[in-house]
Amino acid sequence: MSSGNKKLVLLGVSGGIALYKSLEILREFTKKGFDVQVVMTSNAAKFVTPLSFSALSGHSVITDIFSSESGIQHIEIVKKSSLFLCAPATANLAGKLASGIADDALTTIALACTCPKVLVPAMNTNMWLNPIVQKNMEILSKSGYEVLPPVSGSLACGESGPGRMEEPENIISFCLDLLTPAKFFSGKTILITAGRTEEMIDSVRYISNRSSGKMGFAIARQAKAMGARVILIYGRTSLPPPNVDIGISVVSAEEMRNAVLNNFKNADIIIKSAAVSDYRPENVYSGKIKKTDEKINLALIRNPDILKELGRIKNNSQYLTGFAAETGDILNSAKLKLKDKKLDLIIANDISQKSIGFDSDENKITWIDKNNNIKSLPVLSKDRVAQEILKKIAKDLELH
Ligand code: PMT
Repeated sequence: MSSGNKKLVLLGVSGGIALYKSLEILREFTKKGFDVQVVMTSNAAKFVTPLSFSALSGHSVITDIFSSESGIQHIEIVKKSSLFLCAPATANLAGKLASGIADDALTTIALACTCPKVLVPAMNTNMWLNPIVQKNMEILSKSGYEVLPPVSGSLACGESGPGRMEEPENIISFCLDLLTPAKFFSGKTILITAGRTEEMIDSVRYISNRSSGKMGFAIARQAKAMGARVILIYGRTSLPPPNVDIGISVVSAEEMRNAVLNNFKNADIIIKSAAVSDYRPENVYSGKIKKTDEKINLALIRNPDILKELGRIKNNSQYLTGFAAETGDILNSAKLKLKDKKLDLIIANDISQKSIGFDSDENKITWIDKNNNIKSLPVLSKDRVAQEILKKIAKDLELH
């Protein structure tokens, strides 16, 4: 996401001596054309005044979630941001984030962020080596933070050892990789299906589901950003489709099947995130069914399973990815689908909560590959989920 035409970086600054380097980080990001919004803890503001940061960023620094600009505005900033970087991150800040504590502007914003998050700790060596701090870092890594560990060197406290904040140059280069992804898929074609199918009952009524197309569109967007030629086949949606090489809009499962089969041979990678109706009415009434006092029985017949068909006909060099929207025993159901449909990878979404999965901005996935490697990701924005799935595919195909 971006602020105006520029991508927005949220720069979190907590109170450690290393924060003089944050000014350099801020300057480098703005030089490279990013918009930067700084968020400081009150301790950080004792080391360097917010004025220095606002002068360099061109925005007033957020230090208080309850300031005159309301908290809601801060949440809006979170939605627009492409990256959250906290440098330096103190042991205290990491402890709060690992425990889900949000008692100031920085921790509140960090907790609300679903964009990529990078934490750059800096502290005294003994603090860094303390098992509690190490445990917190492990929790943060498992919760989706990229942690750039401190380097060894002489510290402000006079000691020497690991604890020094990573150099700004390396921090910037790490962040740029997240902000502008590598073109793993140059020369490759990726076929993606997105959204829902609709199966007509009569001329105005249909059977469908709540898929919005957000997940599939995010994959298409990120695949383009990673250099792929993208063919996107999508069901009815209220969202504008992303800019791809070939975009085909369909309504029913039958139409989706035809469009997929027509384009399948040209695809190196297929990702089927669409929610396809398993059934359709046996007869479609012409006109609108009239209301009577009689009971109506709607006979449903099976729709073709497009993914299963692809699993049967794909050649050895094509990489096939399916999705599984699941509740209950998510892993086992997904494993069965992986095997039954002869997939290379299956993405299981937990759709037990309304805030993730169907028609939401976030998703929580676990992937299983054909070698039974399993990885669960925390709740992330759909763009971020898309990046992670595509990186996994690039790695499996040795495009990394
Ligand atoms: O669009 P959003 O609002 O962002 O929501 C995203 C999503 C939750 C719909 C998406 O992430 C997702 O889980 N998509 C698959 C949903 C689904 O239909 O799962 P399934 O378990 O019924 O199907 C398994 C796989 O077979 C899917 O890849 C599906 O595309 C495919 N399939 C299913 C039935 C069928 N007749 N043909 C198929 O190809």
